[in-house]
Amino acid sequence: MSHIGSYEDRIRDFSWSIAEKELGFKPGDVINIGWYATDRICRQGKASKIALIHEGFSGVERRYTYNDIRLASNTIGTFLRGLGLKNEDRVCLFMDRIPELYLGFLGILKIGAIAQPLFSAFGDESLLVRLSNAETSAVLTQKKHIFKVRKILDKLPHLKHIIIVDHDGKAPLKEREVAFSLEASNPVEDLECFPAKAESPSVLHYTSGTTGMPKGVQHVHYSLISQYLTAKWVLDLQENDIYWCTADPGWVTGTSYGIIAPFSLGVTQCVLDAGFSTEAWYRFIEKNRISMWYSAPTAIRSLMKGGDEIVKKFDLSSLRHLASVGEPLNSEAVVWSERVFGRPFLDTYWQTETGCIVISNYPGMEVRPGSMGKPFPGITGTILDPSRSEPYPAPGKIGLVGLKFDWPSRMRTYWRNEEAFQKKFRNNWYITGDRARMDKDGYYWFAGRDDDIINTAGHLVSPFEVESALLEHPAVAESAVVSKPDPLNLEVVKAYVTLKPGFAASKDLDLEIMNFIRKKLSPLAMPQEIEFVDSLPKTRSGKIMRRILHAKEWGEEIGDTSTLENE
Ligand code: WT7
Repeated sequence: MSHIGSYEDRIRDFSWSIAEKELGFKPGDVINIGWYATDRICRQGKASKIALIHEGFSGVERRYTYNDIRLASNTIGTFLRGLGLKNEDRVCLFMDRIPELYLGFLGILKIGAIAQPLFSAFGDESLLVRLSNAETSAVLTQKKHIFKVRKILDKLPHLKHIIIVDHDGKAPLKEREVAFSLEASNPVEDLECFPAKAESPSVLHYTSGTTGMPKGVQHVHYSLISQYLTAKWVLDLQENDIYWCTADPGWVTGTSYGIIAPFSLGVTQCVLDAGFSTEAWYRFIEKNRISMWYSAPTAIRSLMKGGDEIVKKFDLSSLRHLASVGEPLNSEAVVWSERVFGRPFLDTYWQTETGCIVISNYPGMEVRPGSMGKPFPGITGTILDPSRSEPYPAPGKIGLVGLKFDWPSRMRTYWRNEEAFQKKFRNNWYITGDRARMDKDGYYWFAGRDDDIINTAGHLVSPFEVESALLEHPAVAESAVVSKPDPLNLEVVKAYVTLKPGFAASKDLDLEIMNFIRKKLSPLAMPQEIEFVDSLPKTRSGKIMRRILHAKEWGEEIGDTSTLENE
């Protein structure tokens, strides 16, 4: 039996106060995540313990102790305060996975400002939509990404400061730009953290919606409670672990489990700021003797493609526990990982909105390969009958995954869009947007999404956002964006496009449109295929019916087309 105890034992008498007690928090107390992740660990006598081992893309390694990350976050926090930034101001992190991303995140939280991380591969349009919606006051970025910010500056009246963390002093600074160097700054020993309360806003992550533009998922400092406990019980993080979360903090996994949880638990974590390569990943595990590895199905499938032989070239015996998130983890991947690493990847399920793992397999529980596992203690889940929005009376049927929305790290609202937030509930159940089946023992089996959102390699892409960007291309008259099956990424983006008069379909135009989207939005949102068509299927009221094109891509039944215009 695992030291965590059995699932049944944990469910009995569960209360989030278990985490509150361990963290020394009482209701009503101040709870600043930045302080918990750094100062508190130092006070526990772990100031000289390694907090972060960072390897840059050029192979340079840097190590930071808990005292180093305490001082660095103080220094960044002090600098931001010096610019006049204060609690509840939105401060965006738009950087590759350089140390300043992790340290800046903590510094922002320390002064009570709201950290808004954005994936550094985002193009100017993706950036614009999110910075203008959040009315962001400042952005921390690198010189390699500055051109994207400059391009949209005129449309961002609220953006007062563009902080360049690696300015070489040579290129002249432009309007609103300021240089900041962590290395050249005097370390700040004392910073008075903002006295955040449980409900004080902390992090704003943007996520794709089906109908509208991306929405800001607003979290609070109290999220720490369930991020801490799920990391302890599900990821099984222990004192001597060397932990590697492969996610980028531009996405929620990279903040909840790539910054907040591991640091507040005082473990040592590793970051590799380099693209994927089988050899590089195994070498990284071997070199750092990684014991807990949290990754994603697309990465695991890529490793599987690399084959079994290459695994034998490395000493991966340090691996103790593996977990996965973001997309369905097929049972083949679970079985494969058990064979080659001696440990299975355990599936965990959650969302930006949930802030922490809500359904999962974990030590102390019987693992069923192919299943997402069971709800975490303290979290009530159900499968709702879509026609009545009520839980099915008996297990076995596929329905909507619903959750009782009451655990500490749930989102509090969508940024300035309470209406969209309220729409996520039916009969007091939070509707995840996913479909699943529950078996008679309470295990959840993922069946698919219940909307048009595309999950490519674990990243959600909104068809609406891609369609809007496509319309800005001079040749595009109309478009419909759907997913198409892909062996590696499970789904990729496909666009059906009708052209404006005077434009003809060609391979060049195809590539040009793909590149246009890649630069404007991101490589993830770029259609992998464009099909030029004469017309798109529409309802009589003129709405494009994506579902018909989706069914075509997936070889599924088209279903009811009685409202279709061109039939
Ligand atoms: C959506 C949430 C929270 C981490 C990363 C993504 C899909 C997530 C699983 C899983 C099948 C999964 C769902 C979910 N998803 N985990 N274990 N099995 N699907 O956060 O970007 O908000 O995406 O990812 O569709 O709703 P996100």
